[in-house]
Amino acid sequence: CGIVGYIGFRNAYPILIKGLKRLEYRGYDSAGVALISDSGDMNVYKEKGKVVNLERIVESHDCSGCLGIAHTRWATHGEPSAVNAHPHVSQNERLALVHNGIIENYSSLRDLLEKEGYVFKSSTDTEILVQLISFIQDRQKKDLEGAVLEALHRVIGAYAIAVIDKSTPDKIVVARKSSPLVIGIGEDNKEFFLASDALPIIEYTNQMVYLNDNEVALIKVGNNVEIRNFDNCGVKAEITEVDMSLEALEKGGYEHFMLKEIFDQPKCIIDCMRGRLLPDKKKIVLSAINMHRERLLRANRFIIVACGTSWHAGLIGKQMIEQWCKIPVEVEYASEFRYRNPVIQPNDVVIAISQSGETADTMAAFELAKKHGALCFGIVNGVGSSISRESDTGIYIHVGPEIGVASTKAFTGQVTVLTLFSLALGHELGVIGQVEYEQHIDELARIPRKIEEILKKDDCIKKIAHSLKDARNSLYMGRGFNYPVALEGALKLKEISYIHAEGYPAAEMKHGSIALVDEDMPVVFVATHHQLYKKIISNIEEVKSRNGRIIAIVTEGDEEVKKLAESVIEIPPTLPTIVPLLSVIPLQLIAYHVAVDKGLNVDQPRNLAKAVTVE
Ligand code: G6P
Repeated sequence: CGIVGYIGFRNAYPILIKGLKRLEYRGYDSAGVALISDSGDMNVYKEKGKVVNLERIVESHDCSGCLGIAHTRWATHGEPSAVNAHPHVSQNERLALVHNGIIENYSSLRDLLEKEGYVFKSSTDTEILVQLISFIQDRQKKDLEGAVLEALHRVIGAYAIAVIDKSTPDKIVVARKSSPLVIGIGEDNKEFFLASDALPIIEYTNQMVYLNDNEVALIKVGNNVEIRNFDNCGVKAEITEVDMSLEALEKGGYEHFMLKEIFDQPKCIIDCMRGRLLPDKKKIVLSAINMHRERLLRANRFIIVACGTSWHAGLIGKQMIEQWCKIPVEVEYASEFRYRNPVIQPNDVVIAISQSGETADTMAAFELAKKHGALCFGIVNGVGSSISRESDTGIYIHVGPEIGVASTKAFTGQVTVLTLFSLALGHELGVIGQVEYEQHIDELARIPRKIEEILKKDDCIKKIAHSLKDARNSLYMGRGFNYPVALEGALKLKEISYIHAEGYPAAEMKHGSIALVDEDMPVVFVATHHQLYKKIISNIEEVKSRNGRIIAIVTEGDEEVKKLAESVIEIPPTLPTIVPLLSVIPLQLIAYHVAVDKGLNVDQPRNLAKAVTVE
């Protein structure tokens, strides 16, 4: 799931270990490192579980050397174990390789290599690749970069790889297809860093080369990075200066990244709206709209593709675009969309929403849209990420790196961007009236302060969360703009507290989930004072009369829900369209406190990965 590499003049090991720790947020189940030692040996150390387990083993061994690669693995083929962890080593023990992604034709390649006398130690698809490179080196007498290129021609799948060869300890060869890889360039090319994203290397350099799909790069001390495409033609290495503060990667006094990210939301939304929302001028300015004005104004339809939390943000976006622009919107799970032969027309606009910008399914859905000539619009947090680079245009959410696996500030950032976008487009189209437009601009400007007010209630929310600790199941209900919020609240609880939670549009409850309600079933209602308020009160009554335990998010001053609920959390009043930016905050905090109460690993919940770069 995460790759780190170093070549230069410093001891590689501490850089690699620190880098792996910075990548821990992506989720993994084993870790490993390969170093070419000062005496020219290839030392490989691997262990199941966390990076600290790996460190414990390495402590008593040789960890010298200025060249190394390291990896955190999230199991796809083969159980999590030290043998299956990366790096994998060739039979002649010359090569070590780390890999993110999947080799689809691994079984036919394995048969071929076994016939040639290769014996495999692991049950991974990755080991096939390192043996194949080694086989080509031996047979065709190719240098490392030539052998890698040749091997990749025989491989079907998705990958980012890094390979080292102890007989040429002055270079690392890397390649990418559908899985991200960044090369950090040290001063005067005296050292190079390598990683799956910029986070682990930003403390050493901000000069980065993002490898594109179907490219192989040779990284050699003293030289510029040499890139070739898979047709063996030279490609110019584009250096990007990445602007990211190290502070954003630290917990800053909070117990967990997730808590920090929840509390960062007022500031994140200000960052996200900076230069875009201009309350003094009663205007929203988005360069993405200015640049593609005609195509956006003439759009027949919007198709939003996303996964997980980003998909929930998409459901909110749909309601806003349809309300303010009167253009139909479909919201699709990227994983379904990409395989179901969808109708995509050239005057469609396909919006990919992704925190990481690396989710494999979202990327593939986007590529499909591009092939059909739709305008590809990215709403992404990961600057320089694959989806952002594949976009024809788009809007960064600019909330800074999100480290907690359970997404929080990215969700509110995505919803903020979608609000700005739909308001601005609706205004250009002349669909939304001036008064409504200005009212929303003014209210958006007040949102960060209103979130701060909710955050002040953290102690009270913590007590309510405590009452959920022993629940086995729970339901989350909302209507209108609060329906996707209910889905998101349920997802947060599932992800980090491992309590089964289902989100529903409240009226649908009568068609099934009400059968589950009894005195042990907590039902969280998002029942703010908006258009369907009266209707949701009836839904609450229905649960109450079946002895369900009711926890409700309500608007300040609410009286009616209070009479029915076991506990309520009040949020400041706002406009119905903007309410998700407030109503989701207590749900994030509930999930967080339940998980902490249960003693669980909040930032790295079991089985989950932050960026799902495999399908
Ligand atoms: C993973 C993460 C979720 C995220 C989803 C989509 O499942 O754990 O938090 O919502 O992927 O990720 P993306 O980076 O595309 O928003």
